[in-house]
Amino acid sequence: MSRNKLLAGNWKMHKTRAEASEFFRSFTKLVGNMADVTRSVEVAFGVPATLFDVCVNAAGAGVKILAQNVHYEKQGAFTGELSTVMLQDAGLQGSIIGHSERRQYFAETDQAVGKKWNALSLSSLLPVVCVGETKAEREAGETNIVVKKQFELALAEVSADAKAKDFVIAYEPVWAIGTGLTATPEQAEEVHLMIRGLLTTHFGAARAETVRILYGGSMSAANCAELLKKPNIDGGLVGGASLKPEDFSKMVLTAKG
Ligand code: PGA
Repeated sequence: MSRNKLLAGNWKMHKTRAEASEFFRSFTKLVGNMADVTRSVEVAFGVPATLFDVCVNAAGAGVKILAQNVHYEKQGAFTGELSTVMLQDAGLQGSIIGHSERRQYFAETDQAVGKKWNALSLSSLLPVVCVGETKAEREAGETNIVVKKQFELALAEVSADAKAKDFVIAYEPVWAIGTGLTATPEQAEEVHLMIRGLLTTHFGAARAETVRILYGGSMSAANCAELLKKPNIDGGLVGGASLKPEDFSKMVLTAKG
């Protein structure tokens, strides 16, 4: 079973509208034939809400624009939040959810991540569900336990109808995010294989083979080729390196092979 690679940028809280336009002017030029590239490697960007329209209009053929968070209710008294209806209205294709920065700084729980996954899937938006251990958890030998718990507590909130829809898992060891410390391809593959096993348990072997598992954490133009060679690393969720068109275009072309 071959899975199309997916390279997703995570812009976090970066870029003005002018900077986003400028990024896509360079990026599309550097990638070349975007429609051709996105047929074999999926390209996506998780961007701030102020950039939704700019990115949707400028990103180019086949490029998906994602939010970085979403609320699980369709509407209501939730000051500061955006719903799946609003993301769709803005022309988005999905959202990153459960990023470790949201878990750490905004108290996002596994249950909330699961409700967001459910809401996105029921709206036919793509959830990119982030999981990953801290440095202390890795050092205590708890990586698999932590990742399994994050995945299964979230999944418990996802209805049968929502489970039938496409989703992506992003394994992002917290100690590798923004630190320049990348998991080795072997370290990442070991966890990805464990996640594939969890997918098999909960979704059956055939379906498990179709789910993309991304690696995230200081992925760069220099190290992505080795990571992407691993059989269970189906792409990347890329922070810092996705802000620079030179770097991210190289990574996309590497993933295309
Ligand atoms: P990084 O961030 O590539 O800058 O380490 C990845 C992420 O947080 O998604």
